[in-house]
Amino acid sequence: SSPSLIDPFGRTVSYLRVSVTDRCDFRCFYCMAENMHFLPKKEVLSLEELDRLCTAFVDQGVKRLRLTGGEPLVRKGILTLISSLSRHLDSSKLDELTLTTNGSQLKQMAGDLASMGVKRINVSLDSLREDRFQEITRWGRFKQVMDGIEAALAAGIKLKLNAVALKGVNEDEFDDMIRFCHQRGMDLTFIETMPMGDIDHDRLDLYLPLSQLKQDLAERWTLEPSTHKTGGPASYMTLAQTGGRIGFITPMTHNFCESCNRVRVTCTGTLYMCLGQDDATDLRAPLRASESNDLLNQAIREAITRKPKGHDFVIDRDNNRPSIGRHMSVTGG
Ligand code: GTP
Ligand code: 5AD
Ligand code: SF4
Repeated sequence: SSPSLIDPFGRTVSYLRVSVTDRCDFRCFYCMAENMHFLPKKEVLSLEELDRLCTAFVDQGVKRLRLTGGEPLVRKGILTLISSLSRHLDSSKLDELTLTTNGSQLKQMAGDLASMGVKRINVSLDSLREDRFQEITRWGRFKQVMDGIEAALAAGIKLKLNAVALKGVNEDEFDDMIRFCHQRGMDLTFIETMPMGDIDHDRLDLYLPLSQLKQDLAERWTLEPSTHKTGGPASYMTLAQTGGRIGFITPMTHNFCESCNRVRVTCTGTLYMCLGQDDATDLRAPLRASESNDLLNQAIREAITRKPKGHDFVIDRDNNRPSIGRHMSVTGG
């Protein structure tokens, strides 16, 4: 059996999120400023380097790999990388190879992804109303995403929709989203906005605690406890009326850090031990220093010994700065 990565709090790190690009074809207003500065290409790891990096984690016991961005599917050559990484599924070293996407490229790519062993995909979608979707994503194309969802379902991929709960923006359409998802056999997860990176809006205005959303849903739906677990931060409930599931990701109102199983790497090879902390380790230098993975593996193991207990997100009412300066798109959530 492969070695495992265990942090100072006894948690096993078995899940890696890898941001393959900081770029995105959308500009969701709560995620990015409209005018973003992206990294020069030479800073970004090549596909071969990303493969080596992922493989080093897999060799050290990581069982699940999730590609993120930015938007992972706009990275040039992404299918080559996924196809190559799928060898770890074939050898059973990896239990799951998956991604979180805005869905814009799924129409063209869903068939290939399914044939490469991708069984489950999370699609970020905060509105089902075309005009509102347009306002939220600024650059998004609604029909493209809808077609992408249909294509992925047709390819036999299980889908989960992720919606960030945004006060005054999408709170009047959660029932519609529930119906849309459950009619298609998809899970739906609501997410609390996290204070990451400067945006062109006031985050406090947008923050909707999910405890409130849950109470509101309970007036119209029968929420039953569910034992469903993906190994992610969401806690799930089943709706008696639809038989479908909804998940709640509540970093702000209920901390799930004590069962954290994950770390994340940016597209420049920076390893963050926690989404909500700034401490990081550069893996690009050891990756590029030699062809052997010894230095890289050592840097990974050393970093895991520094994994913090939990995040430090606060909604700061006095000074309107995000707790974490980097944008979500740097680490892909
Ligand atoms: P599943 O495997 O389906 O459970 O996926 P997931 O929920 O772990 O991943 P996904 O990419 O769908 O993430 C959904 C949301 O959860 C995103 O907004 C992430 O930022 C957030 N999230 C994922 N992992 C963490 C974490 O460790 N801490 C915090 N605070 N948020 C996280
Ligand atoms: N808070 C919570 N979720 C966010 N996302 C992007 N920015 C934030 C934020 N500040 C979500 C996206 C996507 C996932 C990767 O992270 O909508 O679903
Ligand atoms: Fe792109 Fe996702 Fe950020 Fe929207 S939330 S801008 S789709 S990275």
